[in-house]
Amino acid sequence: MSATLTPRPAQKTGRVVWFTGLSGAGKSTLAAALYEELRARDLPVELLDGDAVRENLSKGLGFSREDRDTNVRRIAFVAGLLARHGVTVLVSAISPYADTRREVLDTLPGTIEVFVDAPLEVVTKRDVKGLYLKALAGEIPHFTGVSDPYEAPSSPDLHLRTDQISVQDGVKELLAKLGLNA
Ligand code: ADX
Repeated sequence: MSATLTPRPAQKTGRVVWFTGLSGAGKSTLAAALYEELRARDLPVELLDGDAVRENLSKGLGFSREDRDTNVRRIAFVAGLLARHGVTVLVSAISPYADTRREVLDTLPGTIEVFVDAPLEVVTKRDVKGLYLKALAGEIPHFTGVSDPYEAPSSPDLHLRTDQISVQDGVKELLAKLGLNA
Protein backbone atom coordinates (compact mmCIF):
# COMPACT_ATOMS: atom_id res chain seq x y z
CA MET A 1 0.00 0.00 0.00
CA SER A 2 1.42 3.36 -0.92
CA ALA A 3 1.37 6.16 1.62
CA THR A 4 -0.67 9.19 0.73
CA LEU A 5 1.31 12.40 0.78
CA THR A 6 -0.61 15.28 2.25
CA PRO A 7 0.34 18.47 0.45
CA ARG A 8 1.67 21.11 2.78
CA PRO A 9 -0.16 24.41 2.86
CA ALA A 10 1.61 26.99 0.74
CA GLN A 11 4.17 28.90 2.82
CA LYS A 12 3.69 32.63 2.89
CA THR A 13 6.98 34.34 2.08
CA GLY A 14 8.29 36.62 4.81
CA ARG A 15 9.15 40.26 4.18
CA VAL A 16 12.68 41.58 4.51
CA VAL A 17 13.01 44.98 6.18
CA TRP A 18 16.41 46.36 5.16
CA PHE A 19 17.72 49.20 7.35
CA THR A 20 20.51 51.20 5.72
CA GLY A 21 22.27 54.28 7.07
CA LEU A 22 25.37 55.64 8.76
CA SER A 23 26.86 54.01 11.82
CA GLY A 24 25.03 55.42 14.84
CA ALA A 25 22.01 56.55 12.80
CA GLY A 26 19.76 54.18 14.76
CA LYS A 27 19.43 51.13 12.49
CA SER A 28 20.03 48.57 15.23
CA THR A 29 17.84 50.42 17.73
CA LEU A 30 14.89 50.53 15.35
CA ALA A 31 15.41 46.95 14.19
CA ALA A 32 15.58 45.70 17.79
CA ALA A 33 12.43 47.64 18.75
CA LEU A 34 10.55 46.28 15.73
CA TYR A 35 11.84 42.79 16.53
CA GLU A 36 10.37 42.99 20.05
CA GLU A 37 7.08 44.26 18.66
CA LEU A 38 6.78 41.38 16.19
CA ARG A 39 7.86 38.82 18.81
CA ALA A 40 5.18 40.11 21.15
CA ARG A 41 2.67 39.30 18.40
CA ASP A 42 4.06 35.78 18.03
CA LEU A 43 5.17 36.48 14.48
CA PRO A 44 8.23 34.63 13.18
CA VAL A 45 11.02 37.19 12.98
CA GLU A 46 14.82 37.18 12.80
CA LEU A 47 17.37 39.92 13.13
CA LEU A 48 20.55 40.11 11.01
CA ASP A 49 22.60 42.89 12.49
CA GLY A 50 25.83 44.06 10.83
CA ASP A 51 27.86 43.99 14.03
CA ALA A 52 26.73 40.46 14.95
CA VAL A 53 27.10 39.16 11.38
CA ARG A 54 30.65 40.46 11.24
CA GLU A 55 31.47 38.38 14.33
CA ASN A 56 30.48 35.10 12.68
CA LEU A 57 29.12 34.83 9.11
CA SER A 58 31.37 37.63 7.87
CA LYS A 59 34.22 37.22 10.35
CA GLY A 60 37.49 38.36 8.82
CA LEU A 61 35.94 40.78 6.34
CA GLY A 62 37.10 44.37 6.44
CA PHE A 63 35.65 47.60 5.12
CA SER A 64 36.92 47.81 1.55
CA ARG A 65 34.19 48.13 -1.05
CA GLU A 66 34.69 44.49 -1.99
CA ASP A 67 34.40 43.26 1.60
CA ARG A 68 31.35 45.40 2.35
CA ASP A 69 29.66 44.09 -0.80
CA THR A 70 30.50 40.52 0.17
CA ASN A 71 29.05 41.17 3.63
CA VAL A 72 25.86 42.62 2.18
CA ARG A 73 25.46 39.76 -0.31
CA ARG A 74 25.91 37.17 2.45
CA ILE A 75 23.33 38.87 4.61
CA ALA A 76 20.90 39.01 1.69
CA PHE A 77 21.45 35.33 0.97
CA VAL A 78 20.58 34.30 4.52
CA ALA A 79 17.68 36.76 4.61
CA GLY A 80 16.29 35.12 1.47
CA LEU A 81 16.48 31.65 2.99
CA LEU A 82 14.68 32.76 6.13
CA ALA A 83 12.05 34.74 4.23
CA ARG A 84 11.32 31.67 2.14
CA HIS A 85 10.21 29.99 5.35
CA GLY A 86 7.81 32.73 6.27
CA VAL A 87 10.14 34.63 8.58
CA THR A 88 10.14 38.42 8.65
CA VAL A 89 13.81 39.35 8.44
CA LEU A 90 15.15 42.59 9.85
CA VAL A 91 18.52 43.50 8.36
CA SER A 92 20.55 46.26 9.88
CA ALA A 93 23.75 47.05 8.01
CA ILE A 94 25.30 50.28 6.74
CA SER A 95 25.20 48.76 3.22
CA PRO A 96 26.67 51.97 1.80
CA TYR A 97 26.64 51.26 -1.94
CA ALA A 98 23.41 51.99 -3.80
CA ASP A 99 24.14 49.58 -6.67
CA THR A 100 24.83 46.65 -4.38
CA ARG A 101 21.75 47.39 -2.27
CA ARG A 102 19.64 47.53 -5.43
CA GLU A 103 21.15 44.27 -6.68
CA VAL A 104 20.41 42.35 -3.48
CA LEU A 105 17.04 43.94 -2.79
CA ASP A 106 15.94 42.92 -6.28
CA THR A 107 16.57 39.29 -5.32
CA LEU A 108 14.29 39.64 -2.29
CA PRO A 109 10.76 40.41 -3.47
CA GLY A 110 8.67 42.61 -1.21
CA THR A 111 11.64 44.05 0.63
CA ILE A 112 11.10 47.28 2.51
CA GLU A 113 14.13 49.55 2.19
CA VAL A 114 14.37 51.84 5.19
CA PHE A 115 16.72 54.79 5.12
CA VAL A 116 17.68 55.44 8.72
CA ASP A 117 18.85 59.00 8.46
CA ALA A 118 20.52 61.43 10.80
CA PRO A 119 22.94 64.16 9.74
CA LEU A 120 26.64 63.46 10.14
CA GLU A 121 26.90 66.18 12.85
CA VAL A 122 24.26 64.33 14.86
CA VAL A 123 25.79 60.84 14.59
CA THR A 124 29.20 62.33 15.29
CA LYS A 125 27.85 63.97 18.43
CA ARG A 126 26.06 60.77 19.49
CA ASP A 127 29.19 58.71 18.81
CA VAL A 128 27.65 55.70 20.56
CA LYS A 129 30.71 53.51 19.97
CA GLY A 130 33.35 56.23 20.14
CA LEU A 131 34.32 55.47 16.53
CA TYR A 132 33.64 58.89 14.96
CA LEU A 133 36.12 60.57 17.29
CA LYS A 134 38.76 58.08 16.18
CA ALA A 135 37.74 58.26 12.52
CA LEU A 136 37.88 62.07 12.54
CA ALA A 137 41.32 61.85 14.11
CA GLY A 138 42.35 59.68 11.16
CA GLU A 139 42.72 56.57 13.30
CA ILE A 140 40.15 54.50 11.37
CA PRO A 141 40.71 54.48 7.63
CA HIS A 142 37.69 54.16 5.33
CA PHE A 143 35.16 55.08 7.96
CA THR A 144 31.69 55.50 6.42
CA GLY A 145 30.61 59.13 6.25
CA VAL A 146 34.04 60.42 7.25
CA SER A 147 36.59 58.91 4.90
CA ASP A 148 34.45 56.43 2.96
CA PRO A 149 31.27 56.97 0.94
CA TYR A 150 27.68 56.48 2.00
CA GLU A 151 25.26 56.52 -0.92
CA ALA A 152 21.81 57.36 0.45
CA PRO A 153 18.85 55.61 -1.19
CA SER A 154 17.14 57.89 -3.71
CA SER A 155 13.67 56.43 -3.21
CA PRO A 156 13.52 54.34 -0.04
CA ASP A 157 10.22 52.77 0.99
CA LEU A 158 10.57 54.56 4.30
CA HIS A 159 12.77 57.49 5.29
CA LEU A 160 13.13 57.85 9.05
CA ARG A 161 14.88 60.95 10.38
CA THR A 162 16.00 59.67 13.75
CA ASP A 163 17.01 63.13 14.94
CA GLN A 164 13.38 64.21 14.49
CA ILE A 165 11.20 61.27 15.50
CA SER A 166 11.15 58.88 18.45
CA VAL A 167 11.90 55.16 18.24
CA GLN A 168 8.22 54.47 19.04
CA ASP A 169 7.06 56.63 16.14
CA GLY A 170 9.57 54.94 13.85
CA VAL A 171 8.23 51.53 14.87
CA LYS A 172 4.66 52.71 14.17
CA GLU A 173 5.66 53.67 10.64
CA LEU A 174 7.43 50.35 10.16
CA LEU A 175 4.40 48.39 11.36
CA ALA A 176 2.21 50.34 8.95
CA LYS A 177 4.54 49.43 6.07
CA LEU A 178 4.23 45.79 7.11
CA GLY A 179 0.45 46.15 7.05
CA LEU A 180 0.17 45.69 10.81
CA ASN A 181 -1.69 47.78 13.36
CA ALA A 182 0.39 49.83 15.76
S1 ADX B 1 28.75 47.38 5.92
O1 ADX B 1 29.33 48.59 5.29
O2 ADX B 1 29.45 46.15 5.54
O3 ADX B 1 27.28 47.27 5.67
P1 ADX B 1 28.28 46.82 8.72
O4 ADX B 1 26.93 47.39 8.98
O5 ADX B 1 28.40 45.36 8.51
O6 ADX B 1 28.96 47.63 7.49
O7 ADX B 1 29.27 47.18 9.92
C1 ADX B 1 29.35 48.50 10.36
C2 ADX B 1 29.86 48.57 11.79
O8 ADX B 1 31.24 48.21 11.83
C3 ADX B 1 29.78 49.99 12.32
O9 ADX B 1 28.58 50.24 13.01
C4 ADX B 1 30.98 50.10 13.23
O10 ADX B 1 30.63 49.65 14.51
C5 ADX B 1 31.97 49.11 12.67
N1 ADX B 1 33.06 49.67 11.84
C6 ADX B 1 34.38 49.42 12.03
N2 ADX B 1 35.12 50.01 11.09
C7 ADX B 1 34.27 50.67 10.25
C8 ADX B 1 34.44 51.45 9.07
N3 ADX B 1 35.64 51.68 8.55
N4 ADX B 1 33.35 51.98 8.48
C9 ADX B 1 32.14 51.76 8.99
N5 ADX B 1 31.90 51.02 10.11
C10 ADX B 1 32.96 50.46 10.73
